Amino acid sequence: MTSNSKPPGKFITLEGGDGTGKSTQARQLGAYLEARGLDVLLTREPGGAPGSDDIRKLLLTGDPDRWDVVGETLLFYASRRNHLRLTVWPALAAGKWVISDRFADSTMAYQGYGNRMGAGNVRKIHEVAVGDFEPDLTYILDMEVEAGLKRTQGRGHDEDRFERMKLDFHKRMRAGFLEIAKENPHRCVIVDADRPIDAIQSDMQQILDQRLPA
Ligand code: TYD
Repeated sequence: MTSNSKPPGKFITLEGGDGTGKSTQARQLGAYLEARGLDVLLTREPGGAPGSDDIRKLLLTGDPDRWDVVGETLLFYASRRNHLRLTVWPALAAGKWVISDRFADSTMAYQGYGNRMGAGNVRKIHEVAVGDFEPDLTYILDMEVEAGLKRTQGRGHDEDRFERMKLDFHKRMRAGFLEIAKENPHRCVIVDADRPIDAIQSDMQQILDQRLPA
């Protein structure tokens, strides 16, 4: 499938480094949209569809060098393809507002910049797997990487393959997100994530009302 015709729903993505609080903000934004009377679907990557959740396990557990960057990027896109085909595109076609905790900008930032795959190489794979489909609005939750990583410590889960990568990797990834925002001002907004949850959410709701009015 490609996305030649604009579906009736809206696609909103939350992006940013580890520990920036995306999941909490995604849930609260979902509740805000529901209160506006909209039909909302909350989802996440990697995962969010049959098959994609199996790939999630392969990607997020185990040694940092379990995959090389090419293999890793292909797995993220295999997961994304199922997520789009089986979850996101049908929901948008049904008029839902879909909020995804991470999407393709994460691959550009983590694999393209963080793991030095290069923006051009990620774009080639993106072109085949996703085409010209893109979010209507992307929040990039930004904060110092040290502070974000500190927040992830003690989460007590085994899906920490990326959290365990070196600080330099995380710094390149953050710079990648900021570059993506600069290149895509029509859909990206940077939000300062090093603030209380309510202040961040309030900004996000205001941005939503401006960019995607009811
Ligand atoms: P997740 O548990 O969703 O972490 P977070 O709560 O920080 O969002 O794990 C996703 C991890 O996978 C995270 O470290 C970022 C990484 N990732 C990539 O490297 N590339 C991608 O394309 C995606 C979607 C995620």
